[in-house]
Amino acid sequence: MKIFVTGSAGFIGSHLSRSLLADGHEVTGFDNFNDYYSVQLKRDRHATLEPLAGYTGIEGDLTDRDTVMDLVAGQDVVVNLAAQAGVRYSLEHPHAYEQANLLGFLNILEACRHGKVPRLVYASSSSVYGGNEKQPFSEEDRVDTPVSLYAATKKANELMAHTYSHLYKFQTIGLRFFTVYGPWGRPDMALWLFTKAMLAGEAIPVFNQGDMQRDFTYIDDIVEGTKGAIFTEDLPPYDIFNLGNNDPEKLMDMIRTLSEALGIEPQLNLLPMQPGDVPSTYANVDKARAKLGYEPSTPISIGIPAFVKWYKSYHPIDRESA
Ligand SMILES: NC(=O)c1ccc[n+]([C@@H]2O[C@H](COP(=O)([O-])OP(=O)(O)OC[C@H]3O[C@@H](n4cnc5c(N)ncnc54)[C@H](O)[C@@H]3O)[C@@H](O)[C@H]2O)c1
Repeated sequence: MKIFVTGSAGFIGSHLSRSLLADGHEVTGFDNFNDYYSVQLKRDRHATLEPLAGYTGIEGDLTDRDTVMDLVAGQDVVVNLAAQAGVRYSLEHPHAYEQANLLGFLNILEACRHGKVPRLVYASSSSVYGGNEKQPFSEEDRVDTPVSLYAATKKANELMAHTYSHLYKFQTIGLRFFTVYGPWGRPDMALWLFTKAMLAGEAIPVFNQGDMQRDFTYIDDIVEGTKGAIFTEDLPPYDIFNLGNNDPEKLMDMIRTLSEALGIEPQLNLLPMQPGDVPSTYANVDKARAKLGYEPSTPISIGIPAFVKWYKSYHPIDRESA
């Protein structure tokens, strides 16, 4: 199949593209290589894709409507992973979210509509559940009370996708990812920040005094779930799936597992809850299991050592201290 992957130099997009290419698909990757975090890391991820048969990498921006329109036309599936990610950054840089996540997503929808693309798969986020107290979070729960602009834009994407499926009869499948981690991960996320600090002998910032839990989901499981959304036949015109691990971990247990993998005792800098953050995420994945054949199988006892092994083998990020 011909598959267009936006955010292909990003964490999830680079892994997904590699896996699709290994399965023999043609992948056009699209990314603007912005400097939200290390551009070198994005270039390095991209460099792992470029030699692979079937890959075309294009540098461009989702807000460039004409370019997106041209590239999307005639694709079998579009997978939109490009976005301004991060909850904390959205407090200081709200317009970055408006550009990439709202205008950019509208351009993708319009391009799918006019380019006659039968299926759009796109990244939503567990953050749409906001401060919901009922756990585990399931797709039929109300998600009308986001607590960050990032979450609000992801919820907006789900609404926009529904409208376009309804009006223009192409499929839109939204994936609510839960705290994805693994090799080639994101330098703005806790696992990377903690690893970097512990290796440097520095204290790690632990928000809400450590009283948090996250449904940490390993990248290989996310790739399999996303491929389920790309290839499963008989999906309805519009659908939403949780892709989590269905096994939330206390933050302090995550830190203990990381400390064992590194062989370093952590120094903790206990801090209050951050605005926009939520204390807990926990995915009910019954729907993805039943309809996409999704079966998360990587506990943090395996996934965190795999991340640490990769991190130690990858140095440029430390050289430029991003
Ligand atoms: N990693 C997680 O834990 C997680 C959790 C929930 C949702 N998500 C969502 O999944 C998607 C992928 O996340 P990720 O962790 O790989 O993030 P990432 O930041 O590593 O990847 C996103 C990529 O999109 C690119 N990009 C951003 N704006 C762009 C634009 N306007 N035009 C073209 N490219 C642009 C960036 O350069 C980056 O390479 C995002 O939509 C994110 O919001 C991720």
